Amino acid sequence: MPEAPPDEEPALIVEGLDVTYGRALSALRSVSLTVPHGTVVALLGANGAGKTTLLRAVSGTLRLHRGAVTAGRVRYGSTELDGRDPVAAVRAGVVQVPEGRRVFAGLTVDENLRTGGLGLGRRRPAQVAEARDRVFALFPRLAERTRQAAGLLSGGEQQMLAIGRALMAAPRLLLLDEPSLGLAPQMVHRIAGVVREINAQGTAVLLVEQNAGMALSLADTAFVLEVGEVRLSGAAGELARTDAVRRLYLGESAEPDHPAATATRDGAAATEGQGAA
Ligand SMILES: Nc1ncnc2c1ncn2[C@@H]1O[C@H](COP(=O)(O)OP(=O)(O)O)[C@@H](O)[C@H]1O
Ligand SMILES: [Mg+2]
Repeated sequence: MPEAPPDEEPALIVEGLDVTYGRALSALRSVSLTVPHGTVVALLGANGAGKTTLLRAVSGTLRLHRGAVTAGRVRYGSTELDGRDPVAAVRAGVVQVPEGRRVFAGLTVDENLRTGGLGLGRRRPAQVAEARDRVFALFPRLAERTRQAAGLLSGGEQQMLAIGRALMAAPRLLLLDEPSLGLAPQMVHRIAGVVREINAQGTAVLLVEQNAGMALSLADTAFVLEVGEVRLSGAAGELARTDAVRRLYLGESAEPDHPAATATRDGAAATEGQGAA
């Protein structure tokens, strides 16, 4: 069956999403979020808030974790993604980099990269070569280590490889799950630069982070999840100035006499409540 032509400027639209694990555990409730074409959207929240669950619902991997969408929908452009599998998401141009930089430790860098985009079926060698060139331009360290076992790379290099493998599928929307977790500040800075570069090349990014400072510095808009619900959303720069975000996620105490905090006390454009997209 011939595939429908891809949309010109597809957006990810999540509407009223409920997700449960098993029969009982409600992980997301009525979550709405939009990632417009070509933008970076940060998804913030404490451990257990449901960030990974949201990415799984988008990438079609929820079922692998015994989770299910019980209400709402996920669409990317004209493609319905809820209830689909990872291959459908990859074909639509949506690729997830899972948390914990899971690379195949026993395979070489090159072999790991070759596993990227497998769900796409046969591609022209030129397409694959182009994707590889893009990865090596972004990550020159990987180009120097193509024959090295991935398990011998540093944590930062493994994260680069995990991102590189996702890029081999030439995504139009990249889902990144805590890429900075456990990395030294200098490496976090480099990962941030890479995200910026990937976005500059036209790929939209949904960036899950506990490092709110890093994520907000990159993002156009941001959403804060709290125990499965969207608590705050808005322009990243404005969210970064709100009391709640400063206090909870940027590790600052927002005292009443703090000038920046006072300035945005009432006037923040960030909207409280769920689904304010
Ligand atoms: N495979 C799973 N089975 C059962 N519960 C899960 C599973 N994965 C996550 N959860 C639960 O769902 C909630 C959200 O988890 P998660 O999406 O991983 O949060 P975050 O990524 O924000 O830390 C948590 O209560 C977590 O324990
Ligand atoms: Mg997570």
